Amino acid sequence: MELEKTLQEDIALIESALRNYLSGENGEGYDEIFDAAKYAALAGGKRLRPVILLEFCRLCGGSKLKALPFACALEMIHTYSLIHDDLPCMDDDDLRRGRPTCHKVYGEATAVLAGDGLLTRAFETMAGADCAPEIALAAIRYMSRAAGMNGMIGGQVLDMASEGKQISLDTLNRLQKLKTGCLLCAAAAVGCIAAGKSDETTLAAAESFGNKLGLAFQIEDDLLDIEGDAAVLGKSVGKDEKSEKSTFPALLGMEKCRELVNALTDEAVAALDHFGGDPLLEALSRSLIGRVK
Ligand code: IPE
Ligand code: IPE
Ligand code: MG
Ligand code: MG
Ligand code: MG
Repeated sequence: MELEKTLQEDIALIESALRNYLSGENGEGYDEIFDAAKYAALAGGKRLRPVILLEFCRLCGGSKLKALPFACALEMIHTYSLIHDDLPCMDDDDLRRGRPTCHKVYGEATAVLAGDGLLTRAFETMAGADCAPEIALAAIRYMSRAAGMNGMIGGQVLDMASEGKQISLDTLNRLQKLKTGCLLCAAAAVGCIAAGKSDETTLAAAESFGNKLGLAFQIEDDLLDIEGDAAVLGKSVGKDEKSEKSTFPALLGMEKCRELVNALTDEAVAALDHFGGDPLLEALSRSLIGRVK
């Protein structure tokens, strides 16, 4: 129950800061862009990445409040990636976070721009963080690499290029590591950076956690696309098969995927040993096994 309580507290902090960072502004003749960005970002995602960021900051002895700008920035980047992922030119999805996708409500052009706006606001938010300039700079550098062409974007390119093709397990691992792993790594690593701990071994341990958990998370996501309930999941199911996506269940089968999720979660938890272990992050990681949303 400790996990539930901490999660609720972290999410409350994140929701209110995120709302602040995205509110209080309008534009004469272009108000809609603010509405579209808020529509996508304040729609009740799980907030897993910012929670992990806050908890890694706490684990490294830092203040969660000081880490909030980085946590919210990561959630803005993640939300932008979802808006673009759902566009007709990408996965062409109609449902996200339990509501019609951003482009369904605001049109494609505004959805593209809302994604761009969130990505840009993420960096503005980090640059304005109340911390030592070296910390903000290190966080911004880490986040831009993780979200960029050698990170999440590269993974999305491989994902699109692999549609309708048989790819090797190696290629699929690389694709998932970039597409999903990089932002999970950023969650853990930037949490450490925000606490002022950015030595190589600490960041390597955080990345090991992020990579293992990220892979387990994406395999579960692929499983949910097959056996999930759209009403609970808040997004459509059965899309991966229809789009002939290269996924772990398609390559390895469901049973092997479930075994992998368990093994990878154990490995993610083992990476916490570097920090002397952490019951809360361990419980959070294990709670994602067999998740329903
Ligand atoms: C969905 O991420 C995209 C993937 C990388 C699998 P989440 O499952 O974290 O989505 P939200 O933020 O809860 O909506
Ligand atoms: C998307 O992966 C990962 C991103 C970088 C957005 P998916 O395409 O599998 O995510 P969902 O299933 O649409 O949330
Ligand atoms: Mg996709
Ligand atoms: Mg998708
Ligand atoms: Mg998916």
